[in-house]
Amino acid sequence: MNDFIYSYPVKVYFGQGAAKKAFAAELGKVGKNVMVTYGGGSVKRSGVFDEICGLLKEAGKEIVEFSGIMPNPTYKKVQEGAALARDRHVDFILAVGGGSVIDCSKIIAAQAVSKKDIWDMEFKEHQFPTEFLPMGAVVTASGTGAEMNNGAVITNEETKQKAGVLGAYASFAVLDVEYTMTLPEKQVISGAFDTLSHCMETYFGSPRQGTLSDDIAEAVMRNTIRNIRALKKDMNDRNARSELMWASAMGENGILKIGKVTDFQAHQIEHQLGAYTDCNHGQGLAVIHPVLYRHMYQDGAEQFARFAENVWGISGEGKTREELAAAGVRALADFVKEIGMPTTFTEMGITDRSVLKATADTCNLTAGCCKKFSREEILQILEECW
Ligand code: NZQ
Ligand code: ZN
Repeated sequence: MNDFIYSYPVKVYFGQGAAKKAFAAELGKVGKNVMVTYGGGSVKRSGVFDEICGLLKEAGKEIVEFSGIMPNPTYKKVQEGAALARDRHVDFILAVGGGSVIDCSKIIAAQAVSKKDIWDMEFKEHQFPTEFLPMGAVVTASGTGAEMNNGAVITNEETKQKAGVLGAYASFAVLDVEYTMTLPEKQVISGAFDTLSHCMETYFGSPRQGTLSDDIAEAVMRNTIRNIRALKKDMNDRNARSELMWASAMGENGILKIGKVTDFQAHQIEHQLGAYTDCNHGQGLAVIHPVLYRHMYQDGAEQFARFAENVWGISGEGKTREELAAAGVRALADFVKEIGMPTTFTEMGITDRSVLKATADTCNLTAGCCKKFSREEILQILEECW
């Protein structure tokens, strides 16, 4: 295991009535003007927005609305939100939504109090913001675990990059499964697959020899697989949904990453594909993972064999280590089909094949991956995803 320092800044309020409990405990510490950020309107249709604003008003807060944060949020939207926060003297940001709303809000929180352009600061000067408007997050779509970290995935349309930008941590997160019940099945499943992906991308990072973090990751992966299967039988299974909501947080609350250099090669490829196609994050991952792992497993055969045995329950009897590792990758591919996720980019509705080369040429190649990929091999992987 690598050396580490561990502490965690996000306080989680989980379960029924969590927003009420969280606001009672947390909002006294923050100023009067609260900017409620949200997406395209699902929270208005579901009634979550009214409930949250009612609680804010009871707490004596003035509400500033910032709406229209799109899936795969853009840097332009960040600037719009930061300008509004400055104009209206916002004291606190409350993100109400899924990963996109939470991510956009994390960078609004940084940009609103900085004279520097955050993108240039991070990508040109390689410096990171240290001051933020304080923020909280109310999760309405789980899977990304975005409420648990300070990384935001933002699309810069000018530079054609979808990239990780460091912003604010939420000081608290509200995880109430009732707020997710209106989420359409496609998004529930793609969010849950995203959680599985975060666990895998951490598990296959370095070192790859059975750390405590890996043992916990195996449990989170088994739980995620089991509860996705339960939801495929009954989408309204609240127990399965709340298990997945906590699994999503566990994937990104740092516990699984302790002592590891993570891989996240599938994410790096998917993010750039998203920059060119605006595709759904979890679906992109579902297509990429099995193909990427077919190119990778021999270089990390020991860990892929553990994955086969401990996550998918495949017996190693009569199999070489490589055969067992390959069986684990096949089990993952079969699972993607079983849960009705797309297995090719064309099934996802991507029609322009030229995005494959653009993605291969611009995605990051990660340090924690067990294989050093060339851009030619990334292109080959993307071609196999077509
Ligand atoms: O915009 P609205 O109308 O709210 O609709 C949203 C959106 O269309 C809808 N939705 C959310 N809650 C709902 C609901 N619809 C009905 N009922 C509800 N309760 O769901 C759609 C997708 O929302 P979005 O926030 O985009 O989904 P997700 O949570 O999957 O977030 C995806 C974004 O997060 C990034 C992804 O790259 C992508 O940009 N990620 C962020 C990470 C992080 N910060 O740690 C890690 C991830 O790996 C990921 O990259
Ligand atoms: Zn993800």
